Amino acid sequence: MQDAKHWVGQISRRHPTYQDALALRYDVFFRPHGLPEHVTIDKWEAASKHFAAIVDGELVSYGRLTESEPGIFSISQMVTRPDRQGEGHGTLVLKRIIAYAVKKGAKRISLNARVHCTAFYEKQGFVPDGEVLSSALTGIPHILMVLGFSDVKVDS
Ligand SMILES: CC(C)(COP(=O)(O)OP(=O)(O)OC[C@H]1O[C@@H](n2cnc3c(N)ncnc32)[C@H](O)[C@@H]1OP(=O)(O)O)[C@@H](O)C(=O)NCCC(=O)NCCS
Repeated sequence: MQDAKHWVGQISRRHPTYQDALALRYDVFFRPHGLPEHVTIDKWEAASKHFAAIVDGELVSYGRLTESEPGIFSISQMVTRPDRQGEGHGTLVLKRIIAYAVKKGAKRISLNARVHCTAFYEKQGFVPDGEVLSSALTGIPHILMVLGFSDVKVDS
């Protein structure tokens, strides 16, 4: 799938597609719950790294990586445009994020998965670790998942 018109990598907050990513995150995660737009930007936003899949200049998928303390990473806000889901874009973004964290010396990579999405993360080596809890913001059930490092294959 990755040809000249398909790009996956880190974007800065000044990159034009970053605003598209914020809009997509709001539309998918928060707007359906009637929440205001400002909840999209949480306390981790500025310190996080942002990753995108861009096809023909348009954002199709996005994910965020946060290093809360040295070597301790979490992934959040994984989202693919509804009309481009199931085409492998989310997997490419997730793999790129994992590879980045591993190269930065990750000791732990975790995420809070919506329970209906656990299979997506399990395909990349994440395993559930804890009980199902509802998001304080949206009420959607989530479960903590942690990457099993023995399963990590980082593409060069
Ligand atoms: C979850 C999400 C980011 C996956 O992105 P995507 O680009 O559609 O994923 P891919 O096309 O790379 O799918 C990879 C695999 O995961 C599976 N998968 C994707 N979304 C899934 C889901 N919601 N539940 C279970 N499996 C899923 C696909 O079937 C595919 O399996 P296959 O390789 O056997 O065909 C996307 O579906 C999405 O944006 N969902 C809405 C927002 C959301 O819930 N985000 C996750 C928050 S934890």
